[in-house]
Amino acid sequence: MQGVTIVDHPLVRHKLSRMRDRTTSTKTFRALMRETATLLCYEVTRSLPTHAVEIETPVAATTTEEIAGKKLVFAPILRAGLGMAEGMLDLVPSARVAHVGLFRDPQTLEAVEYYYKTPEDISDRLVIIVDPMLATGHTAVAAVDLLKRSGVGDLRFVCLVASVQGVETLRAAHPDVPIWTAAVDAELNDHGYIVPGLGDAGDRTFGTR
Ligand code: URA
Repeated sequence: MQGVTIVDHPLVRHKLSRMRDRTTSTKTFRALMRETATLLCYEVTRSLPTHAVEIETPVAATTTEEIAGKKLVFAPILRAGLGMAEGMLDLVPSARVAHVGLFRDPQTLEAVEYYYKTPEDISDRLVIIVDPMLATGHTAVAAVDLLKRSGVGDLRFVCLVASVQGVETLRAAHPDVPIWTAAVDAELNDHGYIVPGLGDAGDRTFGTR
């Protein structure tokens, strides 16, 4: 699949299996979400540009590297994306956060916006959208639409589980937005849930059902 990176590190595969298991507790699920997001963050930031800096170690002057450009932005899609954003911030604590409030209308499965707050200079930054489940793709497309309307030109999308349909929908609408995911599942059910998936990521993270 063009534009899609499947992060198949054994730790990611193991943690995702535990998250898929319906008997995994809320506490464990939330911890696994955070840990897996940290591992995905490592992969999605792999190609960040660096520039040379002169420093002095306790022993000698030397040239080393730092990440170039403005601090990046994590954009969790509320609410399930919040659990993933925590894990990404563990790795990049100076990142900014844009909150994208979108819910899926249960009848139409279309995305409905209810909250949107970003750093003022977001158009100058790389924005990494995070949402555990890329299911129909409607919410992801709506999130990218909103961020592009804010002037963002450099976007990446990270999820835990994608469906084939979700990947196709997002890539068709926004071919310039690459996707990182731990797995791509084949199907969606009539309620728009990924099969086998892991259930409702928001409910399982926050213990609301
Ligand atoms: N949202 C979820 O939380 N799970 C799915 O399977 C699909 C959308």
